[in-house]
Amino acid sequence: MTLKLRALTAAFTLALGLSSAFAAPVELKFSHVVAENTPKGQMAIHFKQLVDKRLKGQVEVKVYPNSQLFGDGKELEAMMLGDVQMIAPSLSKFQKFTDQLQIFDLPFLFDDMAAVDRFQQGKEGQAMLGSLEKYGLIGLGYLHNGMKQLSASQPLKTPADAKGKKFRIQTSDVLAAQFEAINAVPVKKPFAEVFTLLQTKAIDGQENTWSNIYSQKFFEVQPYITETNHGVLDYLIVTNADFWNGLPEQVRNELKRALDESVAFGNEIAAAKDSEDKAAIFASGKSQLVTLTDAERNQWVESMKPVWKQFEGTIGKELIDAAVAANQ
Ligand code: LMR
Repeated sequence: MTLKLRALTAAFTLALGLSSAFAAPVELKFSHVVAENTPKGQMAIHFKQLVDKRLKGQVEVKVYPNSQLFGDGKELEAMMLGDVQMIAPSLSKFQKFTDQLQIFDLPFLFDDMAAVDRFQQGKEGQAMLGSLEKYGLIGLGYLHNGMKQLSASQPLKTPADAKGKKFRIQTSDVLAAQFEAINAVPVKKPFAEVFTLLQTKAIDGQENTWSNIYSQKFFEVQPYITETNHGVLDYLIVTNADFWNGLPEQVRNELKRALDESVAFGNEIAAAKDSEDKAAIFASGKSQLVTLTDAERNQWVESMKPVWKQFEGTIGKELIDAAVAANQ
């Protein structure tokens, strides 16, 4: 190599080194709709902390809780436009994109969260992570929240008590059918509006996990909560395929590792909050727990279960059978 060429190469290498040393980190906005003291809120913070430590200067995670950046009507569209890089909507909010994920809304399908986990980690659950590919979205994994309960302005012991009452639901036709099956009126509304709707009595009740009922203070405006465990509220962590695949491989692998660890962390929080938040709600004295006898619970099961048949053609019988089998 001539001296001149050597000098040129050295200058070029230096310039490259300097430019990467001073390059701005990749920005990863993580938007969600719940409070920070929830499984999803804590998982997002944990993810940011791990990335700050392991990919310092390369990736900067910015977490936006409480629908601050995008409410749940907008976050998927924003992701497709590349305005946000990570979201974790409830599985009930993907109806526009895929029929399969509606399986998680079928009432009384899963006995408990262990069954949900077995199904998600099994062949069918893992295949569903790819169900958004044609929209340029990648499912990176599931995250737990918990089983849903029914809160209301009146005590709900049997399905007849819910007749004619208005319940807020997420944007899911399966959830609408579930309330129609008990002659109640489902009202699709964004999460951020639920407290006000309950407070102003524009609606009579809603279904959610102990964690969401607690962190959103729904219990302060809902004097009765029936412990039904009738459905599941879980999340799919989603990213934009162009963003994800455009990252250097080492960065992508490190992000995935941090995400998997954060999901495990979030799932532990979910399990703990399920009992802690339930206890905190009733310790407040603002809401009363309504427990069901086996016979009463059976009435809810019998009234709501026909929804499975109604959606069997859309979701697929094989998928439903696999979910049932996960109950063992
Ligand atoms: C809801 O809308 O009730 C939930 O999906 C909110 C959430 O993200 O837990």
